[in-house]
Amino acid sequence: MRAVRSAVRRVPSAALALAAVTLVGAVACRPADGSPRGLYRQHCARCHGLDGSGNPRAVDAKPGLDLTTSKLLAAGERAEVVRRIAEGEGTMPAFGDKLTPEQIEALVDLSYQLAGLPAAGATNRGGDDDGS
Ligand code: HEC
Repeated sequence: MRAVRSAVRRVPSAALALAAVTLVGAVACRPADGSPRGLYRQHCARCHGLDGSGNPRAVDAKPGLDLTTSKLLAAGERAEVVRRIAEGEGTMPAFGDKLTPEQIEALVDLSYQLAGLPAAGATNRGGDDDGS
């Protein structure tokens, strides 16, 4: 019984340590850690909002900022989403020279996630560290 109890006690502290490491990674090395969330915070959140629903100060004027209601994302046209992020569209800037193709793929996955949709044609799984 003692072995079982100590095993049970060890689990939460291991989980806590893992959470702490993840948190420190996310806060301390935002640009360098390259996690999709870190990239999103760095490059996208100022327009699209941290949760994807659009910067509240801008979304009324530009409804396209709200990724959670995006028809493009809902249509599942992954290649077109990739193209828009790489080449830009309207006032959406191009990121093809700032981000690698892998980073763009990861941000496409994250865009689908923020929209509450399954990632269409996902190629880049498991890179997200938010634990949700
Ligand atoms: C300067 C503000 C700005 C930044 C920064 C920005 N976007 Fe956008 N984004 C827009 C606007 C505005 C649109 C709508 C364009 C249109 O429909 O003309 C848009 C559209 C999109 C769309 C397509 C949604 C749709 O339905 O058309 C996706 C996906 C997207 N952005 C993802 C991203 C990602 C990922 C990043 C970060 C790499 C990012 N955006 C950075 C302004 C921005």
